[in-house]
Amino acid sequence: MYNLLKGKKGIIFGALDESSIAWKTAERVHEEGGVFVLTNAPASIRLGNITALAEKTNSQVIPADATSVADLENLVEQAMVILGGKIDFVLHSIGMSVNVRKGNHYTNQNYEFTEKGWNVSAVSFHKVMQVLYKKDAMNEWGSIVALSYMAAQRVFPDYNDMADNKAFLESIARSFGYFFGRDKKVRVNTISQSPTETRAGTGVKGFGGFIAFADKMSPLGNATAEDCANYAITLFSDLTKKVTLQNLLHDGGFSNMGVSQEVMEMFE
Ligand SMILES: NC(=O)c1ccc[n+]([C@@H]2O[C@H](COP(=O)([O-])OP(=O)(O)OC[C@H]3O[C@@H](n4cnc5c(N)ncnc54)[C@H](O)[C@@H]3O)[C@@H](O)[C@H]2O)c1
Repeated sequence: MYNLLKGKKGIIFGALDESSIAWKTAERVHEEGGVFVLTNAPASIRLGNITALAEKTNSQVIPADATSVADLENLVEQAMVILGGKIDFVLHSIGMSVNVRKGNHYTNQNYEFTEKGWNVSAVSFHKVMQVLYKKDAMNEWGSIVALSYMAAQRVFPDYNDMADNKAFLESIARSFGYFFGRDKKVRVNTISQSPTETRAGTGVKGFGGFIAFADKMSPLGNATAEDCANYAITLFSDLTKKVTLQNLLHDGGFSNMGVSQEVMEMFE
């Protein structure tokens, strides 16, 4: 390994189980010498096995519902005490749509569910950053990263209202990233990741076909959760100090493809 994150302190949201992108990222941060606090919603902590990850990485878990500003304030305060200073990196790896969970079609939304979905999946990112900003909790040249998906720009019918939530998330990254950059020298980016076999991913209708199609379309194949963790490490490191306000496509080349030979052959 490269010791890329030696001396860096962070907060990692969203490690539910071994398949989570946040889980893989926490493992890689640990290998690179970074220290961090893990957090997730109380119900997810009960459902998953985050304590195993905490033991493995010598870290503490502080529960926080990312839609609760009070929870986030407590989390950031406690994290600075536990880690002994300000924060260098934050991973927001959170997404949830009640409409997807309940099988409501995009043309038949329950708007209470829609609201809950954008609050958890997008506005929570604003809340996390507002709490960090107001508490002046980030070190200069720190890095904040959230996870997105290309349905923010292009139509993927079964991605449902998560497409709108991701567009909202990416916009928040740019808008807040401006102020965080100007005032605190902190960068804010989103990683637009390939379909990945996780609890959130496999919850999307038709996921099996969807992930296989993306793989066949991408010259390098789909980016895995491990690949995503490696990419996140570079964004937390000092090697990417001037990358900000970007939606970074991490998808094996999928986003610039029209069609691949392998997919064409299926129609010939
Ligand atoms: N899996 C994919 O195909 C894929 C592709 C692109 C982007 N993403 C994004 O990656 C991120 C991580 O998802 P994942 O695929 O690792 O799945 P995951 O299910 O492992 O992670 C989602 C996390 O969100 C957390 N969460 C939900 N509600 C919360 C709340 N109120 N407060 C705090 N945390 C809450 C869950 O507990 C869980 O840990 C999400 O933003 C997801 O949309 C996933």
